[in-house]
Amino acid sequence: MKEYVSWTPRLTTHVDTIDEQHKELYQRLNSVVDAIMQGKGKEEVEQFINFLLEYTRFHFGTEERYMEQFQYPGILTHKTDHERLTREVQTMAEQLRSRGADSMLVVSVTQQMGQWLGDHIGTIDTALGRYLKTRL
Ligand SMILES: [Fe+2]
Repeated sequence: MKEYVSWTPRLTTHVDTIDEQHKELYQRLNSVVDAIMQGKGKEEVEQFINFLLEYTRFHFGTEERYMEQFQYPGILTHKTDHERLTREVQTMAEQLRSRGADSMLVVSVTQQMGQWLGDHIGTIDTALGRYLKTRL
């Protein structure tokens, strides 16, 4: 499968569970784009979008449990950013659902999502990783 957005080593948090989930998140985002680019039917695209949404929730839940368990001081800021990202993924999903066949839109939405995913992981998650690393 073609990779439209990629996880890169600069995004490592040094916490294996979180890094694996981040890679899976990128995979699922790529699956959505791939399904659209390949001209898959609405139902199939919808399924990939749902896999992505489900996994986003699951992954944020994992990080938030770590933060609670180890009393991470930055938990509120981090959770607020997760809420913002969740809304953005939902908006993205809406756009893809309504104009799925428009490949220009798909490319721009994907780049946008890859960008904020990278920004969040590269700053907020790596900070969490540094904190957890001393406690896990
Ligand atoms: Fe996070």
